Amino acid sequence: MDLLTTAPRGTQDVLPADSPKWRFVEQTALSAAEEYGFHEIRTPVFEHTQLFLRGVGETTDVVQKEMYTFEDKGNRSITLRPEGTAGAARCLLEHNLHTDALPVKVSYVTSCYRYEKPQAGRLREFHQFGVECFGTAAPAADAEAILLAWQILQRLHITGVSLHINSIGCPTCRAKYHEALRAYFAGHVDALCDTCRSRLERNPMRILDCKSPVCQGIAKDAPRMLQYLCDDCAAHFEAVKQYLHTAGIPYEIDTGIVRGLDYYTRTVFEFVSDALGAQAVVCGGGRYDGLIEELGGPSLPSLGFAMGIERLLLVMQAVGAPMPGPAPCDVFLVSMGEQASLRCFALASLLRGQGIRAAFDVVGRSLKAQMKYADKQGARLTLVIGDNELATGLATCRDMKTGTQSSIALDDSFCAAVAQKLKEG
Ligand code: HAM
Repeated sequence: MDLLTTAPRGTQDVLPADSPKWRFVEQTALSAAEEYGFHEIRTPVFEHTQLFLRGVGETTDVVQKEMYTFEDKGNRSITLRPEGTAGAARCLLEHNLHTDALPVKVSYVTSCYRYEKPQAGRLREFHQFGVECFGTAAPAADAEAILLAWQILQRLHITGVSLHINSIGCPTCRAKYHEALRAYFAGHVDALCDTCRSRLERNPMRILDCKSPVCQGIAKDAPRMLQYLCDDCAAHFEAVKQYLHTAGIPYEIDTGIVRGLDYYTRTVFEFVSDALGAQAVVCGGGRYDGLIEELGGPSLPSLGFAMGIERLLLVMQAVGAPMPGPAPCDVFLVSMGEQASLRCFALASLLRGQGIRAAFDVVGRSLKAQMKYADKQGARLTLVIGDNELATGLATCRDMKTGTQSSIALDDSFCAAVAQKLKEG
């Protein structure tokens, strides 16, 4: 493999043909979020490793196996963010955003880094659109976030996606559940992977989302959290379901969802696509009522979700959702000779000032080669300008679709005349 011309495994370039699709997805999501009162933040691509150990949790796969962690030249342990929530929470606390009116609602588009085994829909560098709502314990907030995710999927014309929800309770009711899990897994200790064996004491729920097929087989019949919810957590879950019902969003209760990050409490949810293979979760999220306190802040119940942009694009492609392509050139100015080139340089600039996508020859090609290039760029019109045209003050305009030719005066009416021609076409 040539290291100079091959990107690292699990990373992906976005080429000009695809970047409009990315922009479309990002802008659709960000503007829907804005309608719901979420405003964009941008946080650093790397943070202190400690933030993720605390935030994401030391017994998660993400922390134990997948983080890109290194020492910088000042001997600090630094980690490329594996997800967006911990950084958003750190940002909230650092800038005291929570001292303003609550809830504080933020959105983001970020790159994330996880050392996973790459496959379709699973990358080492991937991108998330996410939202976080800090400072409310009300079930209406859970439902509102789920509705936003649902709306975004609708606006992207993504079909065949179902909403799965579950509740994983609070630390109080989870303590009882952990006991039940320990009792269940005690009979299977020898078959568990090394990581899961070490999780048995510290955090047995993590065994439920281990990626090893053997552990998954054992976990299949393990007791489910839903049966252990305390009255408050059960009432919260009932209320969330009622709001979803009111919003007309169909959902399934999926007692198997535990999510792969330690901060979750109560509501957890995933949107699953039937158009993708193994990596079918396009959006995941839930409540994390203890995270802000865990990071040294006040008690601030919060929630959010994130969508994998690469996965959204894969589903959109699979279901044939409409996606924009690169904007073609409107006008190509074909120049012959040095004087004409100077004039085309100025005219192209004038046209761009009017919002018209204009290009001219910057290579010194022949007339025929310029016409061919203009065609490849998808130019709607070409305007040929040489010594004759400069002398007469009239350029030859060709409609590249119909082949019709006409003249356009190289005077003050130039931009308006070109705009008119584009409108007619
Ligand atoms: P997550 O489930 O780890 O949650 O990731 C959210 C989404 O990112 C997934 O549903 C998936 O679409 C995408 N994703 C995750 N890993 C990869 C990967 N290796 N390659 C491609 N796409 C991937 C979180 O990250 C939480 N921070 C979400 C959240 C926000 N919860 C509350 N607020």
